[in-house]
Amino acid sequence: MTNEILSTMVDTSDEWIKTRTGISSRRVAKNCSTSEMAVNAAGNALENAGIQAEDIDLIIVATSTPDNNMPNTASVVQSQLGACNAVCFDESAACAGFIIALSIAKAYIEAGMMKNVLVIGSDKISRIVDWADRSTCVLFGDGAGACILSAYEGNSGILGADLHNDGSKGEVLKGGSIDNRDERYIDMNGQEVFRFAVRNVPETINSLLNKEGTNKDEVKYYVLHQANIRIIESVAKRMDEDMEKFPNNLKDYGNTSAASIPILLDELNRNNKLQPDDLLVLAGFGAGLSWGSLLVRW
Ligand code: UT7
Repeated sequence: MTNEILSTMVDTSDEWIKTRTGISSRRVAKNCSTSEMAVNAAGNALENAGIQAEDIDLIIVATSTPDNNMPNTASVVQSQLGACNAVCFDESAACAGFIIALSIAKAYIEAGMMKNVLVIGSDKISRIVDWADRSTCVLFGDGAGACILSAYEGNSGILGADLHNDGSKGEVLKGGSIDNRDERYIDMNGQEVFRFAVRNVPETINSLLNKEGTNKDEVKYYVLHQANIRIIESVAKRMDEDMEKFPNNLKDYGNTSAASIPILLDELNRNNKLQPDDLLVLAGFGAGLSWGSLLVRW
């Protein structure tokens, strides 16, 4: 759905959306559910990793928009893929969901409990968007991305994590109420979320790099949750880093919530932008409020 189409639905313009957010279009999954998008992404990840579905021990789906509360989305994915040996659960940390799901996978693998973990971020945010509210409907899009983490003796993978949550600020960004129809749509204080992101994302990245004894010059890319190009630019500026190190694709997809980081990672990977040993920082932030970062050696 392009900005032009949105301009016929609410009082907005291509120019406003582009200059304030960096978004030109977003995908709306009219005939596809959160679990169907998750299954598609997971199938591609399995193929890319050369792993059989039966070898997956755990499936985690990061989502704030599951098809149903029961069964969870991960179980639907399991059934569609034939991943009959997997334990399955969903995790809900909104736009920080994917990095938190990765940290869970890392912990299970390091504890020796799981060998191959399928981590998916999938959100059909269009379902909880109020298409008459111009302050939010221009921002979001639907999508899914997936990856597989495997036990491995070596020095690549997720090296460290820095994760945070502040539930006392939950009112700033909420939506999807099941009991209260008046609260079914996304309700957001955009400026508050903007300030929170610009302050907390550089802070978590700096604290992660300090903890891991890594200099920012060693980082090839900062793969940030794709919410607003101005947030990404402000983070780059505050960190005194070049925008070249902040790949972004929100122009085409908008904010896809838990899916934004894996979609961007997949594009970087398929475009041969990632080489073995590259150091990446992944950073997510959103409803909760929750935020955090991971240091990854590709
Ligand atoms: O995953 C995390 C989720 N959320 C975010 O990351 C969102 C973070 N926040 C943002 O990205 C920005 O705050 C927004 C893009 C949501 C809004 O941008 P802003 O520069 O903070 O604009 P604003 O809310 O201060 O609004 C400025 C003006 C207002 O009009 P007045 O009061 O100045 O006359 C709004 O009513 O822009 C108006 N406006 C719009 N105008 C045209 C708000 N939305 C639109 C729109 N089209 N779609």
